[in-house]
Amino acid sequence: MAWCGLDFGTSNSTLGLADGNAARLAPLEGDAVTLPSAIFFDAETDDPVFGRAAIATYIEGNDGRLMRSLKSVLGSDLMEQETRLGNRKIRFDEAIGLVLGRIKLLGEASAGHKLDSVVQGRPVHFVDDDEAADAKAQATLEDVLRQTGFKHISFQYEPIAAALHYESTLNREELAVIADIGGGTSDFSVVRLGPDRARLPDRAPDILANDGVRVGGTDLDRLASLAAIMPELGYGHVVRLDGLKAPVALYHDFATWAKINFAYTHQVLSAVRQMKRTARDPIPFERMETALEERLGHWLALQAEAAKIALSENEDTRIDLGRIEPGLGVWLDRGQFGRAIEASMTRIGDVISRCVAAAGVAPEKIDSLVMTGGSALLPMVRDALSKRLPQARLVDADHFGAIGLGLALEARRRYA
Ligand SMILES: Nc1ncnc2c1ncn2[C@@H]1O[C@H](COP(=O)(O)OP(=O)(O)OP(=O)(O)O)[C@@H](O)[C@H]1O
Ligand SMILES: [Mg+2]
Repeated sequence: MAWCGLDFGTSNSTLGLADGNAARLAPLEGDAVTLPSAIFFDAETDDPVFGRAAIATYIEGNDGRLMRSLKSVLGSDLMEQETRLGNRKIRFDEAIGLVLGRIKLLGEASAGHKLDSVVQGRPVHFVDDDEAADAKAQATLEDVLRQTGFKHISFQYEPIAAALHYESTLNREELAVIADIGGGTSDFSVVRLGPDRARLPDRAPDILANDGVRVGGTDLDRLASLAAIMPELGYGHVVRLDGLKAPVALYHDFATWAKINFAYTHQVLSAVRQMKRTARDPIPFERMETALEERLGHWLALQAEAAKIALSENEDTRIDLGRIEPGLGVWLDRGQFGRAIEASMTRIGDVISRCVAAAGVAPEKIDSLVMTGGSALLPMVRDALSKRLPQARLVDADHFGAIGLGLALEARRRYA
């Protein structure tokens, strides 16, 4: 018998399974234990394709729609909106249901039995500063899980889940801050951990504070795109003799994973064609026209994401825009990118400081700063966090698995 924890991430999802001995992650795509939270609907067959295969099918140029960052829509008014797919339309909650249903099925195949109960991870805030919207986000997720067939559903904060997994590796007690910097949100918990404490039935007294903010890797993709890619497509360019510039919202939405599909309308296309006619320099708008006609928005977002990831290793990187125009490319370096994301880094830093203050402990009392989530691999993110806790030991947890594993441990505790 295994108990399951589900980490439905903005970018990647995992399903943890804990039996009497240990926790492990179920394979969700071939041997891979992460499933990119993406779904592609083929225009001809209407059949959904998931994960890496979804992204690959889109990249190959198949006609259809890609949806990514579905989680970021939870709690927003986009939830009720539909995306047109050939002859039918699909709502975001239906798309989320398909992804979660797929994960459940694969988890059951791996466990060898039905999974009725689940501990579902959640960010500390789905939505910033709006409790009603936040509650609605969780309620929607719970409804979707129920529709996929789960009978017992409960929630745990993602950073607490990561803490529980990290704790299983400790041999002495410590005061830790867990920082989970994912695709959609940055979440923090201040916790007292240790091998003896792990056995206590009630952990509430060990959880000193939780906090979070809706800033994550997908925001950094958008900022990279607005800094380097979108200007090549007309962002910031003058479109009329009186000096009027191209509409900012168009480019912001086109650089935002969850909103890209909304740009594919006749109105947007004709507005861009109009700008091409009146602009001093028509070329960028010609490129934007191509991007819309050929549905290259997700491809551009993937180029931005790849550039961001490349900057984790390199000083600069060339972003290939050859699908927009043969030979076209732009360079992005760490300095430029650092300036583009500076305000976001300050926000993340402010929230970790606020969380430690809410815990009622002095920053120098924190023993370890435990990093998880894909975006915590970015040097700018690490600097922004560690400079708030300069004395803490930096620890890297399993960046893509810690939460799913911790949720499974929690599921065993709750349901066994
Ligand atoms: N080496 C890297 N450097 C920088 N960013 C990275 C790296 N590898 C992955 N990422 C980014 O990490 C993010 C995904 O991280 P993760 O899988 O932890 O998020 P998630 O759990 O899906 O999101 P959330 O928890 O916010 O819902 C993506 O934005 C991805 O681009
Ligand atoms: Mg996550």
